[in-house]
Amino acid sequence: MKILVYGMGAIGSVFAARLSTVHEVVGICRGEHYKVIKDRGLKLSGETQGTFIIKVAESLDDVGEEYFDLVLVTTKSYDLRKSLKKIKESISFSHILAIQNGLNTAEILTEEIRNADILVGVTYNAATLEAPGIVKHAYKGKTYIASLRGSEFQMRLASVLSDVGLPSEVPQDIFKIIWEKAAVNCVINPLTAILYEKNKIIVELWDELLPIIESIIDEIIEAAKIFGVNLPQKECLIEKVKKVSIYTGENISSMLQDLQKGKRTEIDALNCYVANVLRRKGHNETVNWLLCTIIKELEKKSIKS
Ligand SMILES: NC(=O)c1ccc[n+]([C@@H]2O[C@H](COP(=O)([O-])OP(=O)(O)OC[C@H]3O[C@@H](n4cnc5c(N)ncnc54)[C@H](OP(=O)(O)O)[C@@H]3O)[C@@H](O)[C@H]2O)c1
Repeated sequence: MKILVYGMGAIGSVFAARLSTVHEVVGICRGEHYKVIKDRGLKLSGETQGTFIIKVAESLDDVGEEYFDLVLVTTKSYDLRKSLKKIKESISFSHILAIQNGLNTAEILTEEIRNADILVGVTYNAATLEAPGIVKHAYKGKTYIASLRGSEFQMRLASVLSDVGLPSEVPQDIFKIIWEKAAVNCVINPLTAILYEKNKIIVELWDELLPIIESIIDEIIEAAKIFGVNLPQKECLIEKVKKVSIYTGENISSMLQDLQKGKRTEIDALNCYVANVLRRKGHNETVNWLLCTIIKELEKKSIKS
């Protein structure tokens, strides 16, 4: 297959490297990361190891009017819409898979891409960009994908990914999986960012934080229901938050990392999204709204400084 990986940062580099062992891959990345990969290859450590020689470009303008069987978009959620607009005006393709954390990927894909098979993905892999051209594949987890227009390609793609060592499956209900992962992220990301601590702070302050965790989860269950998504019981989701905070205890959440680097966070696709869904139903004063507001204030300060 001929595959374009658009937004080849941390997670995109893992997918590009693995896929490049069997398929023809072109990666779109920029800055120093692009220069290092172009000159010396992409170096992976952890669950994926080695140096991978991948054809990269800084922009689709440098790729030309090529045809791709699959486009994999691994930008942050806030870059997704702009990226899709650029992709659809620049290249031809039959399938496009977008993998982001957050709740708006399927919506944006459906709105922007009309003439191709659109697939949405959730991945439990974890990766960090350690330096330009150097990525650590920190955790090898499962990837869930589903075609939003019901194409058969979803099964083939799950095998393609699994065959290159990225275990993947087509779940019965991708939206349940998207909301479940977002529920955990909506708790751990903003709370660790506000507390300016590693993920283990959630378990260390468990009793104190429990009331706010319960409110976040209650609201997410209510918002998911509006889309016909029935999440597991509140207690199960809270237990999941606790487990994830324990086994990722030494990690710094992506939201805190973004604030530390003066970068934009993915709060719009997480707590702000939940809050806006509830606001449209007349439920204005939510904890998710409060967290959305606080993180946006912290973002303004960190981006300025
Ligand atoms: N990392 C993980 O462990 C992990 C795990 C599960 C899910 N996710 C989700 O996967 C998504 C990607 O996360 P990530 O950690 O891989 O983020 P990331 O390292 O920031 O990767 C995104 C990449 O896209 C690039 N990009 C955006 N617009 C571009 C454009 N127009 N042209 C070229 N490059 C462009 C960014 O470049 P710049 O840096 O120059 O902006 C960046 O390198 C997020 O939604 C995240 O929540 C991540």
